[in-house]
Amino acid sequence: MKYIIANWKMHKTDQAVRDFFAVSREVLLTAKGLEIVICPPYPLIPVARNEVMGTPIKLGAQNLSGEEEGAFTGEVSGLQLEGLVDYVLVGHSERRKYFHEAGREIANKLIQAYRHDLKPVLCFEKIEELAVVNETKGLVLAYEPTAAIGTGEPDTPENAVSIASQAKASLGVDVPVLYGGSVTSANVREFITRPEIAGILVGGASLDPQSFIDLVRAASS
Ligand code: PGA
Repeated sequence: MKYIIANWKMHKTDQAVRDFFAVSREVLLTAKGLEIVICPPYPLIPVARNEVMGTPIKLGAQNLSGEEEGAFTGEVSGLQLEGLVDYVLVGHSERRKYFHEAGREIANKLIQAYRHDLKPVLCFEKIEELAVVNETKGLVLAYEPTAAIGTGEPDTPENAVSIASQAKASLGVDVPVLYGGSVTSANVREFITRPEIAGILVGGASLDPQSFIDLVRAASS
């Protein structure tokens, strides 16, 4: 089984989510050997949930607060996500870059994810960034080199394999390590067929239902 995690970032509306599943549902449901996880923006989680209810398609959130609850305007807690999604992205490079997330805050987000039964997908670029990890049960890692995100210039599969192996060695456990950064239907097999790479995290190519269908078909063939 390999993961395909779609990060929709700050895209789509309620209607666009319904349209996406109307076009892609059948292919997503018949794809073999894949754990497909869609990460919509927070307000679109309910409509997406409605669309995937009773199917093996999973949902994830794109972020969560490192705090349990309280006066943190604009934040969303693990408690609020519990039961709505199965996964949560933690420490995506855009969170690090635009919202200055780092170290302790990312560690707190991991703690909150575990506390609320959400599987964390910890995004990292450098092995040192894995120092925040102190629990590995159910943990998923995603190696996402910033130079490859949204640029159309993916890392080489060889380098992704090497980083995945280093990440596992540094944690001392065989956690799933995904690759993310400019993955498309044209290159997904180069990554997903490597035993060291447990799947992919995809942004741009997951937005249009036809391009996502193509990617899922390529990955499962
Ligand atoms: P991309 O984004 O597929 O558009 O490069 C990947 C990501 O940010 O997770």
